[in-house]
Amino acid sequence: MQTHAITADPLYEFAADVRAGLTEPRQKELPSKYLYDNVGSALFEVISVLPEYGLTRADERLLRRHASDIVDRIARPVIVAELGSGSGKKTRWILEALCRRQQTYYCPIEISATALAMCQRELSDLESISIVGFEREYLDGLLEVAARREDDEHLLVLFLGSTIGNFDRPAGTKFLREVRRILQPGDALLLGTDLEKPIPQLIEAYDDPLGVTAAFNLNLLARINRELDGDFDLQQFEHVARFNSEARSVEMHVRSKRKQTVAIPEADLSVTFLEGETIWTESSHKYSRHELLRIAMATGFRCQAQWIDDEWPFAENLFIAE
Ligand code: AVJ
Repeated sequence: MQTHAITADPLYEFAADVRAGLTEPRQKELPSKYLYDNVGSALFEVISVLPEYGLTRADERLLRRHASDIVDRIARPVIVAELGSGSGKKTRWILEALCRRQQTYYCPIEISATALAMCQRELSDLESISIVGFEREYLDGLLEVAARREDDEHLLVLFLGSTIGNFDRPAGTKFLREVRRILQPGDALLLGTDLEKPIPQLIEAYDDPLGVTAAFNLNLLARINRELDGDFDLQQFEHVARFNSEARSVEMHVRSKRKQTVAIPEADLSVTFLEGETIWTESSHKYSRHELLRIAMATGFRCQAQWIDDEWPFAENLFIAE
């Protein structure tokens, strides 16, 4: 009981994760989910309209253009569960197409209450929809949604925006297997994935000339200052985006411009950085079309269809549980 009460405190978890990540002996790191506090989420909204960052717009275009086609391939009646709903903006197209055919249950699953509320507001004007939000981790939320369905109802799980790309490949596969275990044969997973593209284009997308992505990344240090009473001097760190060709991912790091020591009292921590040393804050893996067919097979799905954006290589993959 005691343990539950302690680990359920978000600030305590943040402190514990910061402590664990910054005491890693080889490469210091911080979990990318902490990029999205209120400031970080607002900065990400700006990133998604930058000309250099085409990912979000490609995702939205595909969903807008192909919503009917996507929905027509799904067994009905269906309940929609979305992993990480964000603002709910791009989900609108799929839900509209579904609502034309049936009364629709939509269950966004989000760890952020603010995002849940935003998404509920954004979509409240749709007719024939019931929205039930779940403030949970993805798999816990999905288990709850699955437990509520009737015998004849299928599930459609939405995992959009290439969020899967924040997992390394083995962890991504493991996660999809876990999703599959919660599903029944015939249920569907719509998976959005960013595709491989020339490295200079990728680097520009994650190191834009306006510095919005730099601010998004450095905000993680600012957040540690705000919430854990840290004394990071943001002038003494800089944003780095690099391509890891082995992992086929874009990595974001913050790099220390000089040797320095930072105190983070609420994480009971004092950390020394060497000049040039980095904290790894995010990876965004990039996929090939064919690889996605293999990933489907390896995780208990069949890739029924793919839709590819021609302006910015990005794929919506419709996986059907076998
Ligand atoms: C929202 C996780 C898909 O990895 O491209 C944008 C986040 N990071 N710019 C991505 C992000 C830097 C984004 N995802």
